[in-house]
Amino acid sequence: MTDYKFTQDWFHWAPPVWEQLKPLLPSEPGGRAFLEIGSFEGRSTVWTIENMMESGDWIDCIDTWDGGEEHSNGEMDGAEGRFDHNIEAAITLSFIKEYYEPTELSRVTRHGLTREGKRVNVYKYKCRSSRYLASKLSHYFDCENLFDFIYIDGSHIARDVLTDGCMAWPLLKKGGIMVFDDYMWGEPRDILHRPKPAIDAFVNIFAEEVDMVHMGYQLIVRKK
Ligand SMILES: C[S@@+](CC[C@H](N)C(=O)[O-])C[C@H]1O[C@@H](n2cnc3c(N)ncnc32)[C@H](O)[C@@H]1O
Repeated sequence: MTDYKFTQDWFHWAPPVWEQLKPLLPSEPGGRAFLEIGSFEGRSTVWTIENMMESGDWIDCIDTWDGGEEHSNGEMDGAEGRFDHNIEAAITLSFIKEYYEPTELSRVTRHGLTREGKRVNVYKYKCRSSRYLASKLSHYFDCENLFDFIYIDGSHIARDVLTDGCMAWPLLKKGGIMVFDDYMWGEPRDILHRPKPAIDAFVNIFAEEVDMVHMGYQLIVRKK
């Protein structure tokens, strides 16, 4: 769409694969729940809103908008503003409100209709992923088995990716999908500063609960 503002496309690997995930997603009469860790300018968010979400669905978007160690000088400049703009462009007739959850996390809600007339909610949390995940796990017992789809694309440091995966896993419903981005990313970067060893450790340790769905540039699992 012409009125989106993007400076990067780190998502081009995903659409052909994610199209095949759509039939695997659980169907929830009350609306399905999506979680995105690492939203940047909202390219993956917008694609998810337009192509995966249906009326009644909602998505939590988590980012510090400070960038990770791989982001070069200036790459993050204006990224949060472009995220806000792009979400506003994806959801017309929206209203916006900001408030603090009981978890003391600041949440910006954008609620409205997509161009196709789907009614969706987008919740923006500006914080580290570990802080968001810790608050979800500790404050709401019903957050266990909350999400139908989780996308992990925040910090690319192995210890952070492992932390995101392990903390997000209890929040994923049985039958839900978890996508790890950048499984193949980062050579010749130090092994501990790439997602791959963390993702390998995760699928090995959680093997009893994991069905492998896709292994390519992204690694995608489904919770048994
Ligand atoms: C590769 S970008 C995400 C790209 C985005 N999914 C897209 O499709 O364009 C990674 C993002 O993760 C964010 N990030 C890095 N470490 C984070 C952390 N510990 N918690 C939350 N966000 C983090 C960065 O600020 C950056 O915007």
